[in-house]
Amino acid sequence: MAILDREGRVEINILASQIAAHAPFGGVVPELASREHLRALPVLVQQAVGSVASPVELVAVTAGPGLVGALLVGVRFAAAFAWGSSLPLIAVDHLEGHLVSPFLDLGGEAARPEPERVLALVASGGHSSWYLMQDGVRRRLGQTRDDAAGESFDKVAQVLGVGYPGGPALDGLARSGRSTAVDLPRPRLKDAPFDFSFSGLKSAAIRWIREQKLAAAGDGGAAEVADFAASFEAAVVDQLLGPLDELAAQHQPELVTAAGGVAANTLLRERLSAWGNDRGVEVLLPVRALTTDNAAMIAHAGQIGYRDGHQDDPRRLDARGRKAWQPPGMRAAAEMCRVESSGEAEDR
Ligand code: KG4
Ligand code: ZN
Repeated sequence: MAILDREGRVEINILASQIAAHAPFGGVVPELASREHLRALPVLVQQAVGSVASPVELVAVTAGPGLVGALLVGVRFAAAFAWGSSLPLIAVDHLEGHLVSPFLDLGGEAARPEPERVLALVASGGHSSWYLMQDGVRRRLGQTRDDAAGESFDKVAQVLGVGYPGGPALDGLARSGRSTAVDLPRPRLKDAPFDFSFSGLKSAAIRWIREQKLAAAGDGGAAEVADFAASFEAAVVDQLLGPLDELAAQHQPELVTAAGGVAANTLLRERLSAWGNDRGVEVLLPVRALTTDNAAMIAHAGQIGYRDGHQDDPRRLDARGRKAWQPPGMRAAAEMCRVESSGEAEDR
């Protein structure tokens, strides 16, 4: 739950973490997620609305893509809140939230306006894609063909026995390891130079853990585990940044950004910043707290969409449990973020 002022200053950004509830299962349990949302939302909203001086003027809510049960709880809650308070409502695409997250500040500054041409990486537990953000239009330039980067961190960490979520755990271990210690594959797709694949890397990593009997639970072997973590992290980052040189040459961006949970990764941040310094291109990374899912980015995407004339009907905004789900009233991801892509719609 977040509250931003009209200039996009983050006044409140609070989070009810569900990590402890899901951790025993090694991943997100959908039914548990809905129940936890139901429990947390009224408390968070009351806390947030009660602690700001000015009245709320607009309600923004994530309407997809994601787990339908959890989305349904949020959408109905926001729609009822907007309807009951006679406020405008706007449905936001989760990815659009990540795309605008680098422009927010948590130190009291107004949100930075989006430059004309931005090359943006979104890497999370469900998505890994490069976008061109130009004049308010988002065009997907490349994407994962199989697993998302965060998903591969999570799965490998689970097999290694270092906990959930796996990204931060492996990031921590990798800091004391050697990234060249384990030779892991970095497959590239010949027919699609801007797409990437993580499943071959993930399988090779899991095979290595099993062959080397590397599970971290046991005593000893700490250096081997750190070496493995550093090697795996380096391979994931190589995959994600593989298309960057060519994309930048083609699109000449004013700014390069990275967002989504994996943008919290230490090596990814270092490598992107170094790339920017080398090439003389500005690189803007979200503060770490705004890389993983957060409400401030959704509020900001909502206020940009509202300023552009979008609004949704609280009586019609709903969720449906189909795979390629689109709630009525939610602009299709294509229209909502004005995504221009020849690729298939991501419906995770
Ligand atoms: O954006 P996010 O919070 O949720 C989704 O939209 O999926 O991303 C969560 C993902 C998880 O897979 C988590 O392991 C990964 O982001 N992650 C990281 C780091 N922090 C979170 N991956 C690598 N290094 C990190 N420091
Ligand atoms: Zn996310």
